[in-house]
Amino acid sequence: MAKKVVVEGKVIGQHVLNITTKQIDVKAPEIAQSAVPGQFVNVQVSKRNSPLLRRPFGIASVNKETGIITMIYRILGDGTKILRDVCSGDEISIVGPLGKGFDLKAKKPLIVGGGLGLAPLLSLAEGMEGKKADVLMGGRCEDDMFWTDYFAPISNNVYVTTDDGSMGIKGTVMAVLPKLLAANKYDCVYVCGPEPMMKAVAAECMKQKIKCQVSLEKYMACGLGACLSCSCEGIGERIKVCTDGPVFWAEEVGEW
Ligand code: FES
Repeated sequence: MAKKVVVEGKVIGQHVLNITTKQIDVKAPEIAQSAVPGQFVNVQVSKRNSPLLRRPFGIASVNKETGIITMIYRILGDGTKILRDVCSGDEISIVGPLGKGFDLKAKKPLIVGGGLGLAPLLSLAEGMEGKKADVLMGGRCEDDMFWTDYFAPISNNVYVTTDDGSMGIKGTVMAVLPKLLAANKYDCVYVCGPEPMMKAVAAECMKQKIKCQVSLEKYMACGLGACLSCSCEGIGERIKVCTDGPVFWAEEVGEW
């Protein structure tokens, strides 16, 4: 497993993606060098203000040449409100890379994501070792689907669903997935997003006998395996999402 480090990362810039979502690029060469797709970092957004706890963010993209890592985040609570106002040149403390990433052995992969779950899947699409994945993504409306600009250049086919039908097929990813799986010989499906979506995707993969990896999103206080805030039911034992995952084979997880 990649060695985790604590670094003071220099913020290179932030971009607004929609009214609640931003991209932040941080120079952190030690983390960029060893990160693999699906891992995450724990960011302490401010030493002066509360909240002092670190916040986990999936790594959305890594540039090993420049040493820049990219995170995409939704402005939701106090921590991300502080992060929203961080400027180019500021330094933020980052621990990483953390957790276990995706299995990259699939020959014909399908990536399925919803909402911010698409962030770690972007690093997967980038890191598929020469293969281009098909991607199925869902969101509430067209404004949420800035993700197509990220995935289209590095993917094979990109399929879009929106709840209101403003872009792509109207409905959730489940409006498309069963037929897509039946019509293609995918050997692995990678999924991250809201829990109901991940469960539905995992169940459909099981039905069609296709391997499935899930990237679980849980509240994480420490990110280091010490506090148990991220534990959930595995098969026969409790598992910690931060250290045993966040990526699991679907059959490894009982309740999540
Ligand atoms: Fe503390 Fe996982 S976040 S044990």
